[in-house]
Parts: sequence; C-alpha cells; structure tokens
Amino acid sequence: MATATAGAGLEGVVAGPTTICNVGQGQLVYRGYEIHDLAEHATFEGVAHLLLVGHKPDDEELKAFDAQLKAEREIPDLVIDVIRKSAKLPNAVPMDILRTAVSVLGHVDPECQDNSPEAELRKAVRLTAKIATIIGHMQNVIDGREIISPDPSLTHAGNLLYMMTGEKPTDQFARVIDVSLILYAEHDYNASTFTSRVIAATLSDMHGAVTGAIAALKGPLHGGANEAAMEMLQEIATIDNVEPFMQNAFETKRKLMGFGHRVYKNGDHRASILHTLGRQVAEQKGAEAVRWFDLGEKVQHIMETQKNIKPNVDFPCGLTYFVMGIPVPQYTPIFVASRITGWCAHIMEQHQNNRLIRPVADYQGPSDLKW
Ligand SMILES: CC(C)(COP(=O)(O)OP(=O)(O)OC[C@H]1O[C@@H](n2cnc3c(N)ncnc32)[C@H](O)[C@@H]1OP(=O)(O)O)[C@@H](O)C(=O)NCCC(=O)NCCS
Repeated sequence: MATATAGAGLEGVVAGPTTICNVGQGQLVYRGYEIHDLAEHATFEGVAHLLLVGHKPDDEELKAFDAQLKAEREIPDLVIDVIRKSAKLPNAVPMDILRTAVSVLGHVDPECQDNSPEAELRKAVRLTAKIATIIGHMQNVIDGREIISPDPSLTHAGNLLYMMTGEKPTDQFARVIDVSLILYAEHDYNASTFTSRVIAATLSDMHGAVTGAIAALKGPLHGGANEAAMEMLQEIATIDNVEPFMQNAFETKRKLMGFGHRVYKNGDHRASILHTLGRQVAEQKGAEAVRWFDLGEKVQHIMETQKNIKPNVDFPCGLTYFVMGIPVPQYTPIFVASRITGWCAHIMEQHQNNRLIRPVADYQGPSDLKW
C-alpha cells in the first residue's frame, strides 16, 4: 500500500541501500575511499577493480585485472559492422551508436543470459574493455580513417585516446583522461544507474541494463551536459559576449548547462579537480586554449555571484576535453567508458539481493467515464 507521494523528480527520496558509493555534501566516497584521494593516487583500472570486485587491489590483483582488461579490448566484427553502418545514418549520434553497439555485444557474449555473480563480473570486465574500443573505432569511422588496433602497452585511458586519434598521447594527457574516468566512474542512484537497477531488478541481463543506462545518460540534464556545456560556450564564443549572453539567459530563464546539481547544494566535489587539470592542459596548449578557460571562468563567476549556482563536473569536463582536441559528440560516450564500472557494480549489487523495483503512481485522472 502506498504511504506517501514523493516530490517531483523523486527529490530527496532514499530509494534503497548500497555499499558502493556515498554522494554527500561533505565528500564523495567510493567504497570508503574519498574522491580527492582516488584522483590523486589511484588509476582508473584500480578504481574499476574497487567498484567491480569490491576492494582496493593489491599489486598482484591490479596486474591481473589490468591484464584481463587488455585481453578483452578487441570487439567482434559484427559490432564493427554495426558501427560502420550506424555512422552513415544521418540521425545517429555517437551516444546512439554506442547504445546499439553495446546491445549487439550482448548478442555475442557467451554469458549474456547468465546472471550469476561470477559471470556478471566477467561481463563487466568485458564491457569496460570493449566500450573504449567501440568509441575509438567509432571516431575513426566518423573521420573516414582506418580503425586502429588497441595498444597493450597503453593504459585504459591512454589507449582510449590513442584509438580515437591515432596518436600516442603524452603521459600528462593520458593521466588527465585517467582522472576524468576516475571522477565519472560512480555516483550512487543517479538517473542512469537507477535505470540500470530498475532493469536489473526484473532479472533482466547486464547488457540490457547497460543499454538502458546509456539511453538515460545521453540526456543533457544528465551525462549529455558535458557536450551541452561546451556547445553553450561555443555559442557564447567570445569573452565580450559572456555578460550579454548571461543576462539574456537569466531573463529568459534558460538553463545553463554544466551548472547545478540535484544532490550537491554547495558544489560538486569533482569539478575543481578537473578544472585544475584542464587549465594546466590549456596552458600547455597555448593562448587559444587558455582563452576558452578564461571564457568558462567568467561564466562560472557570474553564475556563482549572481545565482549562487556552482558548476558540476560536466562544466570543466567539456572545457578540458575541448582543449585536448576531443570531438564534442564523444564527451558523453567517454563518460560511458567510465560509468560502465559504476553501472555494473550496481547491477551486480541489485542481483545479489534482488527485489522488483515497482513504485505506484499518484493517479490524478478521472475514474467515472463510460466507454
Ligand atoms: C542538474 C539539474 C537537472 C538539477 O535539477 P533539479 O534538482 O530538478 O533543480 P531545478 O531544475 O528544479 O532547479 C532549482 C532552481 O535552480 C535553478 N537552476 C538549477 N540549475 C540551473 C542551471 N543549470 N541554470 C540556471 N538555473 C538553474 C532553476 O532554474 C531553479 O530555479 P527556480 O527555483 O527559480 O525555478 C539542473 O541543475 C540542471 O538542469 N542543470 C543543467 C544540466 C546539467 O548540468 N546537468 C548535469 C548534472 S550533473
């Protein structure tokens, strides 16, 4: 029986337990480890192990986990074919192509229908490894280049950049992407993760739950905000245009992408970490890259001083990926390359202690009509 009606957007509703992540005003914690600590000392591979296996790996465990990820980087020809054909369709954006490719990966995964914890961990590793390759191949197909084989000498982040661009990244650039993947990996019951748990709770399979989660992440109110934030900055274009643009946005009640958060009221713990790294990249890249950061900082200053609304992680992410030369439509797919670990951890947690997720609606229509 229903007891209370939740507020719009389920704001403030505690929807269930988890031991994976705590999104708090004071700190963001993955399985006990605080995000600044992870961003400074961990690698994405180590964080993926932490989330999926459940504990910080020792050196041997990390080596073995890294080897598993590297061994699973290749994707089947069928999926490459789907990428090639989808990329020719005028309405298919990279997030859609990635969603379809992940769904097809399920068709060829020998354990697709097996929801046991052992099979799900293996599938999670395969998905984590292969999604980066899908993104790399997709970018080459879009650019009309030959696809590039994964390079086992590179880290997960370094290889992702290499496969997208064909150029081996500097250690600094690979590390910036690595940190962005750490920051994006997990965030409790956000919209896409909750989607994945709802699907998993019907006892559906991991690939299906991840496919649904990708669709949820695409929207500009969620993961799509990193692309939308950069598109907004491109629309502003010049520092002189920031003030008139903002004035107009306030007057027309336009939402500024990459700002605000449902949970964080005093700012997003991840934003300043990425902003600092992104600005360092911009300073290395030169005056034009620094100009984009100056422009972004002016937008941020006006938002904070006039509206008291702070940037979320997607704002510095958009700027950082932009000054690194990554094509804008790949920003949210790169978010997927990271959040796949959080999603899979939640799908496994849901399956290990499952109950169907099925709330009730507050019906507000008539009941006395005759057909
Ligand atoms: C993230 C987000 C969806 C949270 O939404 P929410 O919790 O439902 O908050 P609301 O949209 O109800 O916003 C509350 C108030 O702050 C304002 N606000 C919140 N985010 C804003 C933004 N990005 N730009 C302008 N105003 C914003 C709203 O207009 C509203 O003001 P009002 O009370 O005067 O009407 C929202 O902040 C947003 O749309 N941000 C832009 C998209 C984005 O960056 N998403 C990534 C999130 S990590």
